[in-house]
Amino acid sequence: MGDLGFETAGPVTKITEILGTDRLRVGSEHGLHSMVLQRSADLASSSLKTGDEVRVDSNYRMALEMLSSAKSQEYYLDSVPELPWEKVGGQEAALQAIKDAIELPLLHADLFKKFQHATPKGFLLYGPPGCGKTLIGKATAFNLTRQLREQVGAEVREFFMHVKGPEILNMWVGESERMVREIFATAREKRKEGFMPFVFIDEAESILGTRRASRYSNILSTLVPMFCSEMDGIESLNDVVIILASNRADLIDPAILRPGRIDRKIKVNRPNKQGAREIYRIYLTDDLPYEGALTKESAGIGEAIERLVDRVLEHQFARREENKFLEVTLRSGRKEILYRSDLISGAIIASIVERAKAMAIKRTISTQQEHGIREQDLYAAFDAEYSENDIFPPADMTEEWLKLIDYDPENVVKISPVKPIGDSPSRPGSGVI
Ligand SMILES: Nc1ncnc2c1ncn2[C@@H]1O[C@H](COP(=O)(O)OP(=O)(O)OP(=O)(O)O)[C@@H](O)[C@H]1O
Ligand SMILES: [Mg+2]
Repeated sequence: MGDLGFETAGPVTKITEILGTDRLRVGSEHGLHSMVLQRSADLASSSLKTGDEVRVDSNYRMALEMLSSAKSQEYYLDSVPELPWEKVGGQEAALQAIKDAIELPLLHADLFKKFQHATPKGFLLYGPPGCGKTLIGKATAFNLTRQLREQVGAEVREFFMHVKGPEILNMWVGESERMVREIFATAREKRKEGFMPFVFIDEAESILGTRRASRYSNILSTLVPMFCSEMDGIESLNDVVIILASNRADLIDPAILRPGRIDRKIKVNRPNKQGAREIYRIYLTDDLPYEGALTKESAGIGEAIERLVDRVLEHQFARREENKFLEVTLRSGRKEILYRSDLISGAIIASIVERAKAMAIKRTISTQQEHGIREQDLYAAFDAEYSENDIFPPADMTEEWLKLIDYDPENVVKISPVKPIGDSPSRPGSGVI
């Protein structure tokens, strides 16, 4: 006669709540009644959390085995590259607002306590696409963690969870809710393990939108309150920093943005000329190969690049015929012109520089001599960027699109592309809407 040990087969269920050290609540999903189980001796000291899957004995009395640790942890985990504040260009106001909102309370927690000054739990970054919301989110994680490390002296690492709203929305019935709970549970867990957790929710309006406005109003009517209560369960950003990002902050449910929740709203604007200069300077680094002629009349490479950027900006921001991009017809019959520079973004600038590099590489390969980036490359790259664009509005969504690009859409009746001189008629997106 021998001992067979525990059964190795049996039903699997998800933990919905941890009850003390010896019991678990499970079920209430998939038509199951909610139930309380005892932890088996094997699980007594395992660190279980909400969302984990456990195997249960067939009588549903005992949780026997931990099957998977919630996979959202790895699924949403995103790496944060070396991103000092200087790598974000033209966003002084936004960066200052972030520093005020979170650096101070985190680094001077005792002072805030003394003044009984409420600390926020995070902030909302909003603004047009490609202007740096995701970048700033990651830069926040990088810089904050670094400062914490210096202050505490201990090894603090960031744990950056990058959650994309629509991914949560497109889950199975019941899964979305579970994910939200799990994300917060993971964040709290990671804090206990000594990490600094950041929950970055991209396209936040999709899951945290006003409940009435959305096609998904069913899901939102449970997700929004659930998110609110999860947030209320967080004491302050000393535990978890929540960052929301959205192109359409006007669609986010006001309950989310109430004081005590995400009450700091930070605008990430389109770069102006000075901002564009800073961004060019971030990507046109001193150590890249440049065409010899560029450096001739300047004292050093730094100065040569400054001058290059000056000329490029003149070219791109000039209110010239070639830079006209969209014609907007207003109800009054008046027409406004949007210039290419009105639609510029950090993403476009980064992409222009990449294209220019590619041109220099191709030249080097075809001539078998080393060539550097030249001024002309940046002009050609600029043209290419705006003609191969997905910058054009989808035909049926004029108003939505205008809101997206952060242009006041009131009384617009028509947008049509301004055809650049000498361009072929087959230019993509050139249909009038
Ligand atoms: N202010 C900036 N400074 C430096 N680089 C920038 C800046 N803004 C954008 N970029 C570059 O463009 C890329 C895309 O920007 P990012 O993803 O942060 O935009 P976003 O605002 O999150 O856009 P979306 O609304 O489409 O999500 C960045 O990875 C970076 O390379
Ligand atoms: Mg983004």
